[in-house]
Amino acid sequence: MPRDEPRTANREPQITDSDSRRLGVLISGRGSNLQALIEAVGDGTLAARIAVVISNKANAGGLDRARAAGIEALCLDHRTFGSRDEYDATVVRELRARGVSVVCLAGFMRLVGPRLLEAFPNAILNVHPSLLPAFPGVDAQRQALEHGVKVSGATVHLVTGELDGGPIVLQSAVPVRDDDSVDLLSARILIEEHRIYPQAVRLILDGGWRLEGRRFLVVG
Ligand code: GRF
Repeated sequence: MPRDEPRTANREPQITDSDSRRLGVLISGRGSNLQALIEAVGDGTLAARIAVVISNKANAGGLDRARAAGIEALCLDHRTFGSRDEYDATVVRELRARGVSVVCLAGFMRLVGPRLLEAFPNAILNVHPSLLPAFPGVDAQRQALEHGVKVSGATVHLVTGELDGGPIVLQSAVPVRDDDSVDLLSARILIEEHRIYPQAVRLILDGGWRLEGRRFLVVG
């Protein structure tokens, strides 16, 4: 997969065990975005393999979703590591051991440190429940509602050292209704997350893109 060089995919990607379309998914919770990726792989709309799912929480529902789909699922509890660097180094080792080329954060509630970022340059994606750069960090839907915006949405972006601050790959807008609650707005945004995350992963894997400063541009 190219990082800086554009490449145009002119044929349907074929999946083999030895190719580079192997994903690692990092989670902390229920794993509905993981499920969207599993289903997109299953129905052939995302030509990739999910090689491993790693959670920092033993009780993450996403671990069960992974196992139910026959995907290897590991718990690496961050509290058992001495530092973020040590934790990230172990995550990198596990991902590399399984030939992962693209890492998908899917409700992974930890900051990604330099060790992980440097191991997968421009190859870590995150999904966030707002139209970034508005409302980064936790409780994005509540932030949007309390701010009074009329439109919020979902963003998939490349992960950098800045929290929720990397180049934007795809976004989808969701209108905020006058009678919205955090739960109602979150549910409508989640539908868009599930729709655009597999699309964004496919874009990254297919390789017809380049970065121009902060801008993620799809080429020819
Ligand atoms: C999603 O809203 C995602 O945008 C945010 O955390 C939530 C994870 O949900 N980063 P799930 O675990 O994928 O269901």
